[in-house]
Amino acid sequence: MYDVYAIRKDFPVLEHVVYLDNASTSQTPKPAVEAMNEYFFRYAGNYGRGAHRLAQQTTEHYEAARETVADFFTSEPGNVIFTKNTTESINIVAHGQDWTPGDHIITSMIEHHSNYLPWVALRARGVVLDLIEANQEGIVDPSKIERAITDRTKLIALSHVSNVFGSVQDISRIVKIARKNDVPVLIDAAQSAGHMDLSVKDLKCDYLAVPGHKGLLGPQGTGILILRDPEELRPTVLGGGAVEWVRGCEYELLEPPARFEAGTPNIPGVIGLGRSVEYVSALGVANVKKHVEMLARIAAKKLAEIDNVTVYGPKDRAAVVPFNVAELNPHDVSMILDETSRICTRSGYHCAMPALVSLGINGTVRASFGAYNTAEEVDLLAGSVSLIATSLV
Ligand code: ALA
Repeated sequence: MYDVYAIRKDFPVLEHVVYLDNASTSQTPKPAVEAMNEYFFRYAGNYGRGAHRLAQQTTEHYEAARETVADFFTSEPGNVIFTKNTTESINIVAHGQDWTPGDHIITSMIEHHSNYLPWVALRARGVVLDLIEANQEGIVDPSKIERAITDRTKLIALSHVSNVFGSVQDISRIVKIARKNDVPVLIDAAQSAGHMDLSVKDLKCDYLAVPGHKGLLGPQGTGILILRDPEELRPTVLGGGAVEWVRGCEYELLEPPARFEAGTPNIPGVIGLGRSVEYVSALGVANVKKHVEMLARIAAKKLAEIDNVTVYGPKDRAAVVPFNVAELNPHDVSMILDETSRICTRSGYHCAMPALVSLGINGTVRASFGAYNTAEEVDLLAGSVSLIATSLV
């Protein structure tokens, strides 16, 4: 049985706040924090460098984390790169390959800036960008993507779940369309990893960009990029730890994934992430999915029943609930929720300005749910929003 009250004991910060900003970043469970403490207090050394015992132990723990992550996504350790966030993962794909003027990339209007600006920037190199529009609920019609494909299309880059609307895209159909047309595909799993089953073996996407610090409950400053064929990209950062040898101006890169991880990485973060991925596996992704979607759907329903409150996004939503209270500024509403009820929400454009503006919405308050939230917290949110709606509108 999914015992949310037992789970909450691993997140002491939840004693002080109602934390509903999980789409931005989540809280980290005690076992992951303890794993990081253990690194600092018992064996901190550098990764992949040094013959001494601490360097050896560090490397073993770091590589164990890579194996855990690879298993979780049904990949192989050699295909898993640790990054600092989803943004970096996507930028590695954008800048790790040659683009020729006229090359064509397809993404959508409702992407997070991290899966939007790297492609916009490639226009300076002559890349042609197609921004597919979503419907009013934030759903991108896969057939629009199919129709946009040309013989110059070199990439389809799409988020699995919108961080603004909580809409879930039909990524298996989109990947099938991409494969049928021989077009590589990148899935931004920022809002789905840890909340939805994601197997790269089944999905067969070329690139999966994942944050460590959201649904996987890992520490901030950790991210993952899973590559179907790591040989197809070149590293965007060169330096120590990424090369086999250097002679004069000649050098040979190490095999992937090491060639993509130049410089001392976020070792404690990766070790903490490995432990938090084990934690999420033990909770069961299917259980987490059921739980967070249930909370989000109840929250959306309760909020929509309040006079003067508008809720956005589809009925069958993931863990994200955006809303507005009449014409009130979303930042003011978010601040009042915090000051009166210690409810933490995010407000504004959620790093996805074109997404909201294209649908004529000037910012929202956003409640987003995690594995440890409860139905009582949903009631508290609805009660507090109702008070704002009746007293301020
Ligand atoms: N991507 C994060 C969000 O949606 C930061 O809040």
